[in-house]
This record gives sequence, C-alpha cells and structure tokens, in this order.
Amino acid sequence: MAGKAKILVLGTGGTIAGAGQSATTATYKAGQIDASRLIAGIAQLDRLAEVRAETLYAKPSGDLGPAEWLALARRVQAALDAGEADGVVVTHGTDTLEEAAFFLGLLLKTDKPVVFTAAMRPATALGADGPANLFQAVRVAAAPDSAERGVLVVMNDTVLPGWMAVKTASLPVQAFRAYPGGPLGRVTGERLTWFEPPRRSPLAGRFVSRLGGQGDLPAVGIVIVHGGCGAAPLAACRDAGYPGVVIAGFGGGTMPAPMAELARKMAKDGTAIVVSSRVGDVAVMPEVMDLREDADIVAASGFLNPQKSALLLSLALAEGRKAAEIPALFGCLPAGLGDSYGSCL
Ligand code: SIN
Repeated sequence: MAGKAKILVLGTGGTIAGAGQSATTATYKAGQIDASRLIAGIAQLDRLAEVRAETLYAKPSGDLGPAEWLALARRVQAALDAGEADGVVVTHGTDTLEEAAFFLGLLLKTDKPVVFTAAMRPATALGADGPANLFQAVRVAAAPDSAERGVLVVMNDTVLPGWMAVKTASLPVQAFRAYPGGPLGRVTGERLTWFEPPRRSPLAGRFVSRLGGQGDLPAVGIVIVHGGCGAAPLAACRDAGYPGVVIAGFGGGTMPAPMAELARKMAKDGTAIVVSSRVGDVAVMPEVMDLREDADIVAASGFLNPQKSALLLSLALAEGRKAAEIPALFGCLPAGLGDSYGSCL
C-alpha cells in the first residue's frame, strides 16, 4: 500500500456517540454524535491514516439487529471490494457489539481489516474511553499486518477476535474479553503488537452469499431455563412458530426433563434446536448435553453463547439448511481452536 491507508469509519450509534447533560453524570443518551464529529475530535488520527466517516445509524445498539447488521455488512463489503477503503472501523454500542462482530464475521469475505470499537463512557464524560478506543481501532485497521485476521474488536488497548468477543461487565471500561481463547494483540501508544500469526474463525465469510440475498432472516427464539420452569418457556416458542430455537440450558446444556422431552419432539417434527448455556463461559458439547441421544438432529452450541448461536442458526436456516444439518455446522467452530469434533458444512 503506497502512502497512508484509507480508513472508512462507519458510525452506528452507541455510547461512544453518546452525550450526557454534564461531564460527570451517569445518565446519557446513546447515539447523539455523528461519526464525522467523532473523528474530527481526534487530531492524531491524521498521523495514522486518511480517515473519513459515514453515519449509518444513530441508535443504542439494543435497537440494532440482523436487518441493520446485514445492511452494515453490505456497506463494508462494498467499500472494501471497490477499493474505497483499505480497512473499515465500525463504531457500535457495547450492548450488542459481540453479536454484530460475530455476525459480520460470518458474512464478510475479505482479507482487509474490519475492526469494531465502542465505549463504556459517553463522549461527553470526564475520562471518556471512546477517543482512545477509536484511535486504537484506526491504528489496527490501517496496519498491513492486521490483514487475514477476520473481524476484530479493539477496546481498552486490547485486540480481540471478533467471533470470540463477549461483554462480561456492565460498567467498567474493561468490559470485553475473548472467549474461548484470549487477546490477539495489544495497542500501546502507537505501537501495535500481535501475539500470534493471522488466523480466522473456520466460519469466516461462510455466509457471504446472504449479502446478495433478499428478505429478512428467519427469526429464532431464545429460551432461558430457570429452576422448575418445566417446558413452558419452550412451549411459548413452539406456539410462536419459530423455525429454530436456542435453549440456554444449565451448565453444560442440561434442562428440566419436561423441556428436554418437548425439545426432542420439536426437533423430530423439524424445528431446528440448538442447546447452549446460560452460564458465562459456555461449553456445551454434544456428549455432555441433555438430548445427547438426539445429537444428530439437536445441535450443541460448543463455546457459543445463546445470542451468537441464534445468529448462526438464523443464517443457516436462511440458506435452507434442515434441522438435521445444523449440528455439523455448529460442530466445526472449535476447529479454529485445534479441537474439531465435527466437520464444516
Ligand atoms: C449501546 O449499546 O448502544 C449502549 C451501551 C453502550 O454502548 O455501552
């Protein structure tokens, strides 16, 4: 790349673009400041790259979902394919950042860097973390050795693989970590240090054809178990007619017996069922979950939490995958960790 890298910053709202009544208030409104103003506030960006910005959404990220992320992915892919940008930075709310980064990772087919960043404190706060995070995200997006690493998340000096990023705290600036696995690199001042050579999730770009697809993605229900809940939460999903349901079970993917019985029946009737877990560090393997006898038609989510599992399931259903084909799709993700227990579809 001759000269400075061209970096496109796409704003979607969130706390990084949030504003409060004063610099010390804990209350604020997300998505108040457009992306051009965010970059204009960081003079040092000029040293790193030729940066320009567009605002796609100005929303709290809880109001963004698959439809908006699909449009965002189309914009990112188009900008990279057309040579409009050498790398893209997406500013996003933290609440659903892990879903957005995971989802775009499944859709985008590019070697160029795509970096999500966010903030835990609004732009108007004393000690706002947004400007430093955005600076670091541009630093990573503009670096030639950030290529071929899939979608990344950069926050708080740390570079995370996008598909593994999870939000684990509601208030501190150190709100994200990678699970399973750890950080890929670190930004210190203007120095970027990688801890490992490039690699991507085994499903990176697997659903790129959806970028040209029509229509909404199929809605997938998520059910969270709680002690003594029986089958009722899953029955509500069945009655709502969801083509796919993710069960956030206990621990390793267990659930109350009446729910297991209903899940088995729904799977046999053609509903795509994925078993994940309500615990933070999800690890649901086919051999440990309830319904293990039905592992050919009921998928174990592996290390994916319920919200990421729902997005993967929705994309699989959108391309016409039958319930019986879903377990192999989920089974291929641990291959990226050197522990394959399934084959990729
Ligand atoms: C949001 O996700 O839009 C609000 C919370 C945040 O960005 O930290």
